[in-house]
Amino acid sequence: MGRLLLAPMEGLVDDVLRDVLTRVGGYDLAVSEFIRVSGSLLPARAFRRICPELDRGSCTQGGTPVVVQLLGSDPACLADNAAQLIELAPAGIDLNFGCPAPTVNRHGGGATLLADPEQLFRIVAAVRRVVPAGVPFSAKMRLGVRDTARTLDCARALAAGGVGSLVVHARTRDEGYRPPAHWEWVARIDEAVPQPVAANGEVWTTDDHDRCRALSACQDVMLGRGAVADPFLARRIRLLALGGQPASDRSPDWRLLQPLLACYWRQVCGKVAPQHAPGRLKLWLGALRRNFAEADALFLAVRALRSVTEVSRQLELHGVSVAREADPVDADVR
Ligand SMILES: Cc1cc2nc3c(=O)[nH]c(=O)nc-3n(C[C@H](O)[C@H](O)[C@H](O)COP(=O)(O)O)c2cc1C
Repeated sequence: MGRLLLAPMEGLVDDVLRDVLTRVGGYDLAVSEFIRVSGSLLPARAFRRICPELDRGSCTQGGTPVVVQLLGSDPACLADNAAQLIELAPAGIDLNFGCPAPTVNRHGGGATLLADPEQLFRIVAAVRRVVPAGVPFSAKMRLGVRDTARTLDCARALAAGGVGSLVVHARTRDEGYRPPAHWEWVARIDEAVPQPVAANGEVWTTDDHDRCRALSACQDVMLGRGAVADPFLARRIRLLALGGQPASDRSPDWRLLQPLLACYWRQVCGKVAPQHAPGRLKLWLGALRRNFAEADALFLAVRALRSVTEVSRQLELHGVSVAREADPVDADVR
């Protein structure tokens, strides 16, 4: 099978969730949340803040390489910052041409650049010059801003600029995150450029993964919200590819999720200010509700809580042992 990539998700997947999800296994690569580059040369600490894995060989504790994503619209500024980032030995550099956020788009960054393939080319070519040949260099695009009229021009511009690979989130900016994802468009892009292309969008189950690969004609698939909603999805996909038979296309039971939640909560409490920790947990539980009834019950129990102590108490009541230090992926989870 091809590679499974964990998607960048600003505000949802930080280094803590990357750590937990990649401990479970199944991923070949993760991409950091975007680091916005606008005007100035960022200090090393700005890159390390978003991607603390840079201090561990650019890998998660589970050993998954983490590529750092940059977002910006000025070729020279992006190139200067990429050169600065290279000093920190990232597992790779990815450029964001898909972000739909109005604040980002207003400054000419993210998905709006898909209206201007010539600028895409200039950006990629400038960054290409400072990224050594041995360092993976990729770009992540959507299909366009409003429609698919220039999709292939954009992909060709990125390819001609010198990216080593592409990830395609198979929707236009205006489609936001609304299903469906147009996987067949990824096949057209894959045909149009010589570089490897990974397909992304709306993969929630192993069946989705199979259909996405079939329709996109891509080997590699990037998992976004599906990975957050089901931490065991990548591992199940891999098991199936190896000829194994998971019991069903349902996620494993709640017991396997409990130690992951404990690991997540402990790390969140160690990382963010106490007033922000409950919100982080609620975000992840909000996604897990889709697949785990118990996560739904826990979400409802903590929804109105604001203190770390109260949330910890609820976690314990729901069988999540936050006090116990243990490897969350012990023998029976694997
Ligand atoms: C909360 C959130 C934050 C995101 N942040 C980023 C980001 O920082 N960089 C990026 O390239 N894409 C970002 N994306 C897009 C995802 O990487 C992915 O392309 C998108 O969610 C589609 O995949 P999915 O349907 O599997 O979730 C974000 C998506 C979400 C939902």
